[in-house]
Amino acid sequence: MPETTPKGLTRLAFGGDYNPEQWPETVWQEDVRLMREAGVTMVSVGIFSWALLEPSPGAYDFGWLDRLLDLLHDDHGIRADLGTPTVAPPAWFYRAHPEALPVTADGTRYEFGSRGAICHSNADYRAAAANITTRLATRYADHPALALWHVHNEYGVPVSACYCDSCAAHFRRWLTDTYGTVDALNEAWGTAFWGQRYADFDQINPPRLTPTVGNPGQALDYKRFADATLRENFVAERDILHRLAPGIPVTTNFMTALSQCDSVDYWAWGREVDLVTNDHYLITDGRRTHVNLAMAADLTRSVAGGAPWLLLEHSTSGVNWQPHNPAKAPGQMARNSLAHVARGSEGAMFFQWRQSRRGAEKFHSSMLPHGGTDTRVWREVVELGSAVDSLRTIRGTRTRADVAVLWDWQSWWAQNLQWRPSEDHDPRERADAFYEALYDRHLTVDFAHPEADLSAYPLVVVPALYLMTEAAGNNLKEYVDNGGTLVVSYFSGIVDEHDAVHDGPYPGALRDVLGLTVEEFSPLLKDDRVRITGPDGSELTGEVWSEFVVPRGAETLWTYADGLTAGHPAVTRHRLGEGSAWYVSTRLTAQGLDAVLGLAADDARIAPCTDLPRDVEVVCRTGESGTFLFAVNHTALDTKVPLDAHGTELLTGERAAGHVSVPAGTVRVVRLDG
Ligand code: GAL
Repeated sequence: MPETTPKGLTRLAFGGDYNPEQWPETVWQEDVRLMREAGVTMVSVGIFSWALLEPSPGAYDFGWLDRLLDLLHDDHGIRADLGTPTVAPPAWFYRAHPEALPVTADGTRYEFGSRGAICHSNADYRAAAANITTRLATRYADHPALALWHVHNEYGVPVSACYCDSCAAHFRRWLTDTYGTVDALNEAWGTAFWGQRYADFDQINPPRLTPTVGNPGQALDYKRFADATLRENFVAERDILHRLAPGIPVTTNFMTALSQCDSVDYWAWGREVDLVTNDHYLITDGRRTHVNLAMAADLTRSVAGGAPWLLLEHSTSGVNWQPHNPAKAPGQMARNSLAHVARGSEGAMFFQWRQSRRGAEKFHSSMLPHGGTDTRVWREVVELGSAVDSLRTIRGTRTRADVAVLWDWQSWWAQNLQWRPSEDHDPRERADAFYEALYDRHLTVDFAHPEADLSAYPLVVVPALYLMTEAAGNNLKEYVDNGGTLVVSYFSGIVDEHDAVHDGPYPGALRDVLGLTVEEFSPLLKDDRVRITGPDGSELTGEVWSEFVVPRGAETLWTYADGLTAGHPAVTRHRLGEGSAWYVSTRLTAQGLDAVLGLAADDARIAPCTDLPRDVEVVCRTGESGTFLFAVNHTALDTKVPLDAHGTELLTGERAAGHVSVPAGTVRVVRLDG
């Protein structure tokens, strides 16, 4: 069994990407001295260093990296997360192999001069990547600084798929393996439509630019193929590292909840890495950034199967790649970092250690800013380093969740293809909205694949899963039959794994469990609203979508009061076996989601949490070293979080009984007695 925790790291990870090649070696001395001052325990190095390590084909210069790793380890005891630099092949490589540059769907070939310009089917790229990985593994397998391998960087961005001729040939091989015969492929893709039938695998290309909408089965399979191709590349590097450097865990940094990186099926990736690591940046689009952060952390933990994971990158303050990049408010960095730790991260790492003076990311914040040590950011970094250190006993504990939300990247790939009933329906919007509603009820969420065992959860929420296999539908039915409470949002369970509509009335995969059929979708025009009224006279608002729902066993709780669907059920509940299955057929606003989830939570016997203010997070980690209650106060008011046990607050050392005081904007972590 490969190791799953960074070798030799006895504390939580605290540090960041360190790019010393951007600085003269005299600066390195200052770097490591300041790292010690800040309590840095691990840094990520060498991620973009291929051009320095192999300055010309077959000529290597490892001297600087030897000196760097020695400096980190010998004098300062700092562990290294060592990159394989395969996300940034050198200029000489592209001169020799221009066809390794990726091609877009419209036939444009990217140029060298940034990073991540890679066709992952290209044999020359694969050979060169294997070679540099082998050299690094051979040289550093036994280096005492080496704690973790960091393969590549953020697979899936900036290029998620290439459409060149080698990818076309690779795709044909993948299709042959997947379908066996071209007849099976014709059936799955529905090529009888628009005369798209293939007589041979050789006739098939990637879904390149077509005059109008292309075949959805082909487009969906290309997403799967592109994801599998990235994973083949990762696995090839990982296997070299496992063989040559046994005992050192291998990771690659994910970006689980970032909608900009939705081309990677992290359920599959989570099974391939030794340690799940994640990068998270606040998206400043006017929404509550800490809710998206909590969601990303919960999703990362779920991808890790509930095991501890590691936040490998986040920012000390503003980033530089959004339209507006606000600085973090005083205290916000620590709140962000420790909120990740609460939800399972074994530390908090940043991009990057020292702010660059040159290059594309010079305006991105860092641990050591342009302004040096006499800055707020630096002082907060030093303070955070000490806070993180005081939490070292939480290592190995697991975050406890209350409910599950189903999540499936493949379903989104299908849903986001063209020509759907409404372009305003965005499945990710529903996932965010349901998550936020659960967050506001102070419930901790695990995410789960639709075919996963759900029996541990009293409540399971399906925000928008357009693609759902028959197996997933049966899984949900069994879950409800056995006493679970299920809440399903509209336009779920519609198509199978090939984007073919399930046989019979909608929603094919969920008809039985929901006890209803949907006769017709009735999407709303932009800015239209529908009123829906409940049995107690309560009124909710729907947007974007409505439906002609026909109950077939389900009871109607709310009814459309106006619009084309007036008089039809809007929200239903089906009692089945020991459990119940709720259906919401419109896009409810936050108030509506809260009302429905409140009643469903009652069905699930989840006690409402009435004693915590909005935006005060309480999350528990538990394990052999104890139970740790994290309270994160995102508000501007001091608050008290009730405790039903006594304990010791780890950041202040104070005893806590009955409650823990959490001053405005801060975090408290209580280790409960016993
Ligand atoms: C990450 C990337 C880092 C850095 C960072 C800036 O996605 O892995 O190398 O670019 O973004 O926010």
